[in-house]
Amino acid sequence: MKKILVATEKPFAAIAVNGIKEVVGLAGLELALLEKYTSREQLLQAVADCDAMIIRSDQIDDEVFAAASNLKIVVRAGAGYDNVDLEAATRRGIVVMNTPGQNANAVAELVLGLLVFGYRNFYDGSSGKELQGKKLGLLAFGNVGRNVARIARGFGMEICAYDPFCPSDVMEAVGVQPVSGQEDLFATCDIVSLHIPATPETVKSIHYDLIMKMKPGAVLINTARKEVVDEEGLLRAMNERHDLKYLTDVKPATHNAFTEQCTGRYFATPKKMGAQTLEANTNAGIAAARQIVAFFQDGCTRFQVNK
Ligand SMILES: NC(=O)c1ccc[n+]([C@@H]2O[C@H](COP(=O)([O-])OP(=O)(O)OC[C@H]3O[C@@H](n4cnc5c(N)ncnc54)[C@H](O)[C@@H]3O)[C@@H](O)[C@H]2O)c1
Repeated sequence: MKKILVATEKPFAAIAVNGIKEVVGLAGLELALLEKYTSREQLLQAVADCDAMIIRSDQIDDEVFAAASNLKIVVRAGAGYDNVDLEAATRRGIVVMNTPGQNANAVAELVLGLLVFGYRNFYDGSSGKELQGKKLGLLAFGNVGRNVARIARGFGMEICAYDPFCPSDVMEAVGVQPVSGQEDLFATCDIVSLHIPATPETVKSIHYDLIMKMKPGAVLINTARKEVVDEEGLLRAMNERHDLKYLTDVKPATHNAFTEQCTGRYFATPKKMGAQTLEANTNAGIAAARQIVAFFQDGCTRFQVNK
């Protein structure tokens, strides 16, 4: 019988573990739990006879793969997978997957929550603004961007998006207006929300010149990755344009400078909170178990990230 190991230094909620147990049990597979482990030795021992692993932010490198001679698949319950050594996995013929989209609603709800907070002047008692009728620009129309659009429609916002890899008709089908480039998005929207991944093309792509194109009173919101923003350029733009606000779930390295120089116009969550909901963690854990079952039963490699 194939053995699935859930190895989580920071465990899933009980409801997620129960869901994983159910999926694995129904498929006739064996489940082992290694939760809250405190040493690498414990992890190396636990992986010795497992065929599959479900992990969260756990560090999985070549030493772990070397100790897991039966291992065929590792699924990171979540979107990011930079905690797994993909090169080592590929070399050893081990499939690595993530569970994209499972936390998208959680992040999208935080976007709208932060926008209300920002538009109401961080609840400082002064008169704020409403989101209804404002133009929201989504930079990327992936899992998070689409969920933001769905919720923003309920606020009565006008929504447009730029995503060079997403066909226009996919946007138009859900009432989102495609725009031709990110300059256009920045120049025409009241709010720009970043949902791009960090890639060589996107790192520091949100720079001074682009930010300076924003409309008077515009808000920039970043729940994506801190690397995509050129912090120095943003700070300079905010010092020259006192009408701009920046809201972020990915705290800049120069957080103190923003706090000191942009009082009342800058807010960063104390730690990255976008995906931190019971539902997102549960969905991701159960999706990971389902993906492992599909892999063993049907050879399904959808969501493999080390092809
Ligand atoms: N705050 C959090 O806790 C949290 C949680 C999950 C994801 N994220 C981040 O949110 C972002 C979006 O996540 P997702 O799940 O929607 O990812 P996704 O892979 O579903 O979507 C990414 C989209 O970006 C588009 N894209 C790529 N390069 C682009 C470019 N140069 N310009 C415009 N669009 C481009 C792709 O076509 C794709 O549609 C990522 O940066 C991810 O790391 C943050």
